Amino acid sequence: MNPINHVAIIMDGNGRWGLKKKKSRNLGHKAGLKTIEKIITETLRKKINFLTLYAFSTENWRRPKKEINFLFNLLEDFLIKKTNQLNKNGIKFKMIGSKKILSKKLNKILLNSEKITKNNKNLQINLALNYGSKSELINAMNLIKRKKINISISNLDKHLYTTNMPDPDLLIRTGNTKRLSNFMLWQLAYSEIYFEKKLWPDFTIKDYNQILNNFKKTKRNFGKI
Ligand code: IPE
Ligand code: IPE
Ligand code: MG
Repeated sequence: MNPINHVAIIMDGNGRWGLKKKKSRNLGHKAGLKTIEKIITETLRKKINFLTLYAFSTENWRRPKKEINFLFNLLEDFLIKKTNQLNKNGIKFKMIGSKKILSKKLNKILLNSEKITKNNKNLQINLALNYGSKSELINAMNLIKRKKINISISNLDKHLYTTNMPDPDLLIRTGNTKRLSNFMLWQLAYSEIYFEKKLWPDFTIKDYNQILNNFKKTKRNFGKI
């Protein structure tokens, strides 16, 4: 049985879910938030230590302003309302991605959630927001250059947003699309990858557990035989 320390998820398919219901893409984003809550609860119950959720990519700025605003409002609301609950459950919250161009208000909310939950040990949630793996890598390389230290695997690891975290054991992408969309290109080097047909709002605890069980039975070689 493979131990599982870190699950990463590309939560895709919200927009299509809303349109399929003959409603708006934004309704799909709202429904997607409910799936996030369910998956967090189950990950905590399973005693998995890290959960990374891809919420907004550096490329998602190309979407219509109305959708972007809706997504960020949803996120701010979620953090304001749920931080205490996360804290009560011993969950540590961390944003991964660039905070620079995010609004002052959101920066304050993110910092507050990070600060309140910083000593929690049950589960760490990384919310990938304004996240792009290529810029993360460039950023790390620039930090290494500035410090005049060796370019090595461990030095690169240390200068990514995911410093001090194990690499994901498992990546799940919902929404029936098979691509990485600039997500954790370095950290996923040896992860098991599951592409799930269901759209994110339709993804259930049962689906999640099926994937986790499959993962446990997979033979992970890491180059060996
Ligand atoms: C959610 O899914 C991911 C986000 C960028 C918030 P999408 O909004 O990409 O949904 P689809 O893929 O268009 O259905
Ligand atoms: C990836 O989904 C980003 C998130 C889930 C946040 P997208 O829906 O933006 O990916 P592409 O653009 O279809 O590759
Ligand atoms: Mg999508």
